Amino acid sequence: MKTVICPGSFDPVTKGHMDIIERASRLFDKVVVAVLNNSSKNPCFTIEERIGLLKETTTHLKNVEIETFDGLLVDFAKIKGASAVVKGLRAVTDFEYEFQMSMINKKLCPEVETIFLNTSQEYMYLSSSVVKQIAAAGGDISLFVPEEIRDKIVDRLLNM
Ligand code: PNS
Repeated sequence: MKTVICPGSFDPVTKGHMDIIERASRLFDKVVVAVLNNSSKNPCFTIEERIGLLKETTTHLKNVEIETFDGLLVDFAKIKGASAVVKGLRAVTDFEYEFQMSMINKKLCPEVETIFLNTSQEYMYLSSSVVKQIAAAGGDISLFVPEEIRDKIVDRLLNM
């Protein structure tokens, strides 16, 4: 039974995140989506909102569960019995930060691997920050977030 962790802030979840979660769910027996509960990152969406949006977009993925964590990612991975952390890599710009994180995590906990999946080409440019900027300015985010949560994201950002 291979369990992996897909960690992130998911503020909010985008089609880019869903691409990675769906592909991980096809590769591994169980995927734990780990939502960082860290107020120092000052997220727009509360932890409950971020979890709610992820639950709504992953109902079709029977081997995916949504959880929250704080503290160290590798500690959470150990608690969940996960053998790896799966992260999406968009462009070269992501590489340096993600590489550093993976090296630190390896030092902290050698038995938890980091696996990078290249983001699918159509989502190379996409981030939660871009989605928030477009929605807050009244733009159309249909291309960037799952349809079933689009209106919730728009309502929330227009009423901030
Ligand atoms: O979506 P994000 O904001 O890029 O996700 C970043 C995340 C949650 C993967 C990263 O911030 C993280 O792992 N935080 C937990 C703290 C930790 O374990 N840091 C690594 C050692 S310094």
